[in-house]
Amino acid sequence: MIKVRIPATTANIGSGFDVFGMAFQFYNYVSIEKGTGLDIQIMGESNAFLADPDHNLVIKAAKEVFAKAEEPFTDLAFLFENNIPVTRGLGSSAAAIVGGVVAANAYLGCPFAKKDLFQMAVSLEGHPDNIAPALFGGFTVSLKNKGEYYTSKIIPAKELKAVAAIPSFPLSTKKTRKSLPKEVPFHDAVFNIGRAAALVNAIENGEWTMFSLALEDKLHQSYRFSLIPGAQSVVHAAKKAGALGAVLSGSGPTILAFTIEENCDKIGRAMQKAFAHYSVTSDYRILYTDLQGAFVKKESKM
Ligand code: HSE
Repeated sequence: MIKVRIPATTANIGSGFDVFGMAFQFYNYVSIEKGTGLDIQIMGESNAFLADPDHNLVIKAAKEVFAKAEEPFTDLAFLFENNIPVTRGLGSSAAAIVGGVVAANAYLGCPFAKKDLFQMAVSLEGHPDNIAPALFGGFTVSLKNKGEYYTSKIIPAKELKAVAAIPSFPLSTKKTRKSLPKEVPFHDAVFNIGRAAALVNAIENGEWTMFSLALEDKLHQSYRFSLIPGAQSVVHAAKKAGALGAVLSGSGPTILAFTIEENCDKIGRAMQKAFAHYSVTSDYRILYTDLQGAFVKKESKM
């Protein structure tokens, strides 16, 4: 049996819209072994969409790998152990796609290199910023050139931790992308370029003096905050509780705060309280960086 562990991820991280991503030690698992026909079992986080094999992203991704390898997609048993909340901005769809391509590739004896799996996975997701950290781990800077995706991995300074305030309501990326403008003012683009560059230096070298400024963004967050009751207050509450800054995690609705102190619970509780003020129930979770990305374990039948 092949078992793959895939990390939760955040994307954008304020100034790096569609570019920055980061992986966390919070995992989904995809197992694949020989079966009869197509058997799918789901444990943990799910919804009607995931339970349907025609829509399930792990299956879709695995099928793609089998098709490219010219292998029949049959007599397979899948088990998904899902911990990452679905459509909350913590990379559940990237985890499913990466889980699918990595598990299928390992099952078939690795006909494809990791860089090929990256291209396949991004094509299915549509943007690289969650896929890259889910596959490679760490903090990633991704870009597209002439139809091909590239990513560069950075090991974040080890004192950096994140606290995610995860609302109980889902928000689809597709929906929130529709709220974004087709064009942005030139000065907004310049605003983000400086901050994005500073963010890379902060994350890699622990240069925290500009970190709070570096998280700021004018390309997407303000357009999306209107879809999340209390989002702006939650960001303020996190900072007031001692966070270096807080951002929308991916396309939301999760708000992600960053800290280098031992104040994660204080920040989490403050964010939860701020959401509650807007009648939004939420959980908070402390997240440490994952440096490994998707990880394959071959197991004898359990
Ligand atoms: N960059 C994507 C977006 C991430 O903001 O739409 C979605 O997780």
